[in-house]
Amino acid sequence: MIKIAPSLLSADFANLQRDIERVPNADWLHVDVMDGMFVPNISIGVPVVKSLRACTDKFLDVHLMIEKPERYIDAFAKAGADLLSVHLEADLPPAIHRALDRMEENGVKKGIVLRPITGAEAVIPYLKRGLDLILVMTVEPGFGGQAFMSDMLPKIEAIRGYINQYCPDCDLEVDGGIDPATAPLVMKAGANVLVAGSAVFGKPDPAAAVEALRSAGV
Ligand code: DX5
Ligand code: ZN
Repeated sequence: MIKIAPSLLSADFANLQRDIERVPNADWLHVDVMDGMFVPNISIGVPVVKSLRACTDKFLDVHLMIEKPERYIDAFAKAGADLLSVHLEADLPPAIHRALDRMEENGVKKGIVLRPITGAEAVIPYLKRGLDLILVMTVEPGFGGQAFMSDMLPKIEAIRGYINQYCPDCDLEVDGGIDPATAPLVMKAGANVLVAGSAVFGKPDPAAAVEALRSAGV
């Protein structure tokens, strides 16, 4: 089943609750955490996740674009994230495994993220230990509103193959430049969770935009 995860990065930060209420049909809410180091931009942190938790029951899918994410797993879990995802490029493999261990200890779902430069095969050791989600970036992380990188499609297909082989229940999410034109391409390649920021909150009717993504390519 396809899940649509509107990215709050494109919402109005002074009116997050109002904007969440505009997408009652969203499956998940995608929350972009940026530290100004791993990516050049700075977005939101632990207190905002805590406030979001208090104003919605929706599944909070928290994408950590931060250096050495192991340091912050406990804090984001306690703030109320349902799933945390960490970039493979944000630390050395043993530290990424420790970050995933901490997610398990905190009872949150665990995910890994790949920048465009990182190859599909990098996911294999993590799938072997068990994952809830792999996120394939289809733009360079850091900003909303960028153009979809179609050269990521073979990587999505390859990772879908690895998921089927090693950890079939793992979700495959894509993030960056997803709109009704690119959604069918990523779904065909094997993605089942679609993040969209500007294609949802940049539209006059965000709920209709969620449905447009869900039915794209059907
Ligand atoms: C970018 C973020 C995305 C961003 C996507 O680094 O990870 O979640 O909000 O924005 P769009 O859908 O506008 O490309
Ligand atoms: Zn994101």
